[in-house]
Amino acid sequence: MPPQVLASEEAVDSVSVDAVVVAAFKSSDGPSLSADAQKLDDALDGRLSEHLTHTAFKAKVADVTLVPTLGRVQAKTIVVAGLGDKDEAGRNEVMRAAGSAARRLTDRSTIASVLHSDVSDGSAVAGATEGFLLGSYKFTTYKSDPHPSKIERIAMLGGPDTDLIERGVATADATILARDLTNEPADSIFPETLADRAREVADAGGLDFEVLDESQLKERGFGGLIGVGKGSVRPPRFIVMHYKPEGRASQTLAIVGKGITFDSGGLSIKPSGSMETMKTDMGGAAAVIGAMSAMSKLRPQVEVLGVVAAAENMVSGRSIKPGDVIKHYGGGTSEVLNTDAEGRLVLADALVYACERKVDAIVNVATLTGAIMVALGPKATGVFSNNDELRDEVATAAERAGERVWPMPLYDDYRSDIDSEIADIKNTGSRWGGAIKAALFLRNFVAKDVPWAHLDIAGPARNDSAYDEVPKGGSGVATRTLIAWIEGRAS
Ligand code: BES
Ligand code: MN
Ligand code: ZN
Repeated sequence: MPPQVLASEEAVDSVSVDAVVVAAFKSSDGPSLSADAQKLDDALDGRLSEHLTHTAFKAKVADVTLVPTLGRVQAKTIVVAGLGDKDEAGRNEVMRAAGSAARRLTDRSTIASVLHSDVSDGSAVAGATEGFLLGSYKFTTYKSDPHPSKIERIAMLGGPDTDLIERGVATADATILARDLTNEPADSIFPETLADRAREVADAGGLDFEVLDESQLKERGFGGLIGVGKGSVRPPRFIVMHYKPEGRASQTLAIVGKGITFDSGGLSIKPSGSMETMKTDMGGAAAVIGAMSAMSKLRPQVEVLGVVAAAENMVSGRSIKPGDVIKHYGGGTSEVLNTDAEGRLVLADALVYACERKVDAIVNVATLTGAIMVALGPKATGVFSNNDELRDEVATAAERAGERVWPMPLYDDYRSDIDSEIADIKNTGSRWGGAIKAALFLRNFVAKDVPWAHLDIAGPARNDSAYDEVPKGGSGVATRTLIAWIEGRAS
């Protein structure tokens, strides 16, 4: 059970909890305590600041130190969390610090926090809520002796706006759903079961739901999904979730996810080491389903289509072969030279479909290329777009959401590298600029007049070691960016 987050009017020096979390800021002459931390320091006769000096605590963002109170105040432990420079501390610094603190507190049951109190950013308490919930996440489904987080209650002191807390809970829950889906092994989450999970989300939130099975996909010409999925005993699915607000919506947005539930590479098979993490290849779909799960709680005044192209890329006598030509949904063709460049093939169908639904803008999310990891490293998402305003809008939404998204180019003259002799386009070119060429392939399937952005999350979808609010393993990345983008459009 995720912990309960509530607003409380209790005082920092009298609240009775296992741990009370307070802020410190970085300054030229060592850490400076927030007003609440100062109250505790007074109650401890200056021992708190003494401890910080003694341990050379710097108060950089998400630095955390635990101090036992030995009965001097009601709370058993004081947790000092760094928020960095006071002038720069906002919602996201609070979110990261809360995440870092939560990761240290999963063996405690009750927590109180004033991390948001000394920050001028009005939505800081939403950030704190998100950080605590995301930082205490653990995936324990398959442990015979699980050690789940013991955190039961998190009290936000100072009587903050409960609506902000609820928004933080909604975005954290959405991200946690995406993490759970990503962490599930591919033997448990395959196209059919991913569709089942999406249907549960749609039912719970009152969204319209539609799923196409393999016979419907064949009939309606979804050649990319059929081609990629046909080597597997687990047939592909095309999933559409539809959120409609009450009253008139000013626009309709589409979010589209790559849902390769396992990527073996197909006949262009991956080395076994590269396959170890390929259950993560539905991370884009997880972000889309996660974001859709938050719609009924956040109620933005826009329509949102959540589209997932789900297939398993496997090796068999029925697999798609290098040299085969696919006829995509809508009639465009592509020559498949490398069956491991499969994400773009299923997304091509989905992008044509989204354009056909007459949406005002599309953002797709995909663990698309190893090349983006070479370009940006493991912790950043690349954003490509056929529209500079949309690209900046998505990057700004990511910044608000506390996720790292960096703009990438779509150079027109690179497009000729994926010209095909026999089809409209081929699915790979030379390895240079691989992330750009993958994005150029996608752009080919987007109607010219539809603003579209592509998030390549191959790096951050899975994380090697925990930091801030992000755990090791599936990260649920882009869920929060999608939500922030949708909310930005709605306001
Ligand atoms: N799913 C992979 C991309 C990926 C790689 C995601 C590493 C996460 C971590 C994608 O389907 C793929 O295999 N891409 C190939 C494309 C190449 C064959 C043109 C790649 O990046 O090597
Ligand atoms: Mn692949
Ligand atoms: Zn893939």
